Amino acid sequence: MKGCQNECPAGGCTGGAAKQVTESFKAADLIINPATTFKEKPDPSGLVFGTVFTDNMLTVEWSLTSGWEKPYIRPLENLSLHPASSSFHYALELFEGMKAYRGVDGKIRLFRPTLNMDRMVRSAAQATLPCFDKEELLECIRKLVEVEKEWVPYSTSASLYIRPTLIGTEPSLGIKKPTKALLYVILSPVGPYFASGSFNPISLWADPKYVRAWKGGTGDCKLGGNYGSSVYAQQEAMELGCQQVLWLYGEDHQITEVGTMNLFLYWENEDGEEELATPPLDGIILPGVTRQSILELARKWGEFKVSERYITMSDLTAALEENRVKEMFGAGTACVVCPISKILYKGKNLHIPTMENGPQLATRFLNQLTDIQVRDSLLWYDNNNEKGEIEGMNGFSVTGSRN
Ligand code: COI
Repeated sequence: MKGCQNECPAGGCTGGAAKQVTESFKAADLIINPATTFKEKPDPSGLVFGTVFTDNMLTVEWSLTSGWEKPYIRPLENLSLHPASSSFHYALELFEGMKAYRGVDGKIRLFRPTLNMDRMVRSAAQATLPCFDKEELLECIRKLVEVEKEWVPYSTSASLYIRPTLIGTEPSLGIKKPTKALLYVILSPVGPYFASGSFNPISLWADPKYVRAWKGGTGDCKLGGNYGSSVYAQQEAMELGCQQVLWLYGEDHQITEVGTMNLFLYWENEDGEEELATPPLDGIILPGVTRQSILELARKWGEFKVSERYITMSDLTAALEENRVKEMFGAGTACVVCPISKILYKGKNLHIPTMENGPQLATRFLNQLTDIQVRDSLLWYDNNNEKGEIEGMNGFSVTGSRN
């Protein structure tokens, strides 16, 4: 099947380990029975992340015996599930997070949605949930956003967050690959992710007693369990006066991620080079779409070294003592770019001078990404001053054709 990462024989998807053949649902079979009553649309300036939902949702059911059913766009409603469903008991569940933007030209565009689809298929294989054709799902999502186009905020500082979700609905308590599943997509108009507002610096708590992910685990997939199990540490961080957890790994306290975001350090490295560094995709880091976009932009600019490398807390503390740290920031779909100003580590507050530096680089990434998302701008990257586009970075149009 197109889009499945598994080694499928011709004619069908094996869905990974269980080897059953599953044909994908098709966007051409979409049945659209939209809502006939409509909720009031919120003021984009007062949105609290993920609390308001649009009128409709997409659903597609799957079972081992019948495969995928036809996809539906229908009014958003509560799900009716067997209380033994495997997503409830064993967290056989995954999700994605992506956004639709209303451009200044009035067109609605998704930002690099094929990367989300690629990751969703990888997460499905990891969770032993059924595979599907990612192009078909993307077309169904495009149709859903088109149906809900009035919910895409008329604002350049808000967007429509898209939450594709795949859950095991196996109605039995044995721990096994589900024989039933439900794929659904809900939409939520969103402003800044943090209640403190967009681009306000956050404080972090770093303590090796909690670990977000480990080698051989699921940290590189977007499984709900990765996020649910982080809440306990997040709560402790807040009790200590910090906003997010800086996740450490290993005896040498490697810096991995921050809260639900990838992490970037812009500094003068140990060899005196100006460098933008982020931890490598070694199995414990989520391959974020914003992470990839920032790396691609910085590499195209070619103005400083760009590295996917390990950074330990002792690397960071040495650099802070020697005034070599310029900026630290988190990056993710929900917040886009989020400056870091403080880390509580081993009982000491480490001041991170991100804001004193502007923050020039974090702001440049935020502005460049916003330009791509709402202005569909092409990117300067050629030494001869030719305008060009990083492949796939510009808008995937939901309404209207590409410029
Ligand atoms: C993201 O920013 O990409 C996220 O996944 C955040 C979400 C878990 C709220």
